[in-house]
Amino acid sequence: MQDHLTIVKHPLVQHKLTLMREKGTSTAVFRQLLREISQLLAYEVTYELPMATKIIETPMEEMEAPTLAGRKLALISILRAGNGLLDGMLELIPSARVGFVGLYRDEATLKPVQYYFKVPDRLEKRLVIVVDPMLATGNSSAAAVDLLKEAGARDIRFLCLLAAPEGVARMKEAHPDVPIVTASLDERLNDAGYILPGLGDAGDRMFGTK
Ligand code: URA
Repeated sequence: MQDHLTIVKHPLVQHKLTLMREKGTSTAVFRQLLREISQLLAYEVTYELPMATKIIETPMEEMEAPTLAGRKLALISILRAGNGLLDGMLELIPSARVGFVGLYRDEATLKPVQYYFKVPDRLEKRLVIVVDPMLATGNSSAAAVDLLKEAGARDIRFLCLLAAPEGVARMKEAHPDVPIVTASLDERLNDAGYILPGLGDAGDRMFGTK
């Protein structure tokens, strides 16, 4: 994957994203749309997975058929909203290994603090896809990638639904080697760090909390 930022402009992605942005969309529909979009985004983020071939027998004859190569990839969800993207991706890649990173923002220092970290082994041998629907300031995303690199990850991609220019810039500065795939590059952040026009709080909308 060459570009630092890939915006998936597929009509189905864009249509579903518009439905998700609308404030009247119910929790159940929001969750279903997120599941569907995550699979379309997963298609893009896994486009260049390494391939091998193996000999198989069809009912007609033997053939050399393409198959995925290398170790099972690792999907890393940034809690809690990342889990919404994770569910759909796991339907598409059921054998993926899964990890979780939990970070909260220290209100005094405004720095992300880790409260949970559990990831698959041998990260250095896997493609690692970090999922978080909203790339806003980029601080927690950059911190999560720091932790994954410390744990050995080398080949990392970041998948989100929406990105703010501030978050993309922060990630590019901290992790220029980590390509970002998103459905939209929105306009900006507001003073509270929410993406505009955005879709509100992704976690609240997918879990029905406030
Ligand atoms: N997290 C969200 O859920 N929404 C935003 O707009 C920004 C961060």
